[in-house]
Amino acid sequence: MLSTKLQDAINKQINAEMWSAYLYLSMAQQFENKGLKGIANWFKIQFKEEQAHAEIFMNYLNSRGNRVFLQAIEEVPTEWNTPIDAYKATLEHERLVTSLINELYALADAEHDYATRGMLNWFVSEQVEEEETAQELIDRLKLIGDNGVGLYMLDQELAARTYTVPAPLAGKAE
Ligand code: FEO
Repeated sequence: MLSTKLQDAINKQINAEMWSAYLYLSMAQQFENKGLKGIANWFKIQFKEEQAHAEIFMNYLNSRGNRVFLQAIEEVPTEWNTPIDAYKATLEHERLVTSLINELYALADAEHDYATRGMLNWFVSEQVEEEETAQELIDRLKLIGDNGVGLYMLDQELAARTYTVPAPLAGKAE
């Protein structure tokens, strides 16, 4: 069983993951509205991934005999003028999430809770990937600039993104 302090911190992280999900769902709506269906699809997948992150934490608390307490999800922004603005906001947000995961890791470490530390390892690697992907898309959008054909081609490519169940959830009933 986790300490109350760690349980509270993970419950807070569940809320942060759900807020992230809501943020990306909001971005998806914006680009759906702008006719960039591929970019909208990319953010919808991101929305599902964030829900999965929350679920991994929920499963973990339950598996340790702890309690999940769902809290209110704060309102998210609704306007990003261009795809690059949204991906810059994504990178900034993912950097914040990385710092939250690092804080959780430090807390688990301070409490000598090695099981929790082990569970968090997956998130530490995941955050490297999250930041890298956002940065790559920013770089590509910078190269594309005002080139409509370039943006169309990127949109087509992102339309092909599909959701993969993250490893910690694979094999578990949905
Ligand atoms: Fe759940 Fe995008 O980190």
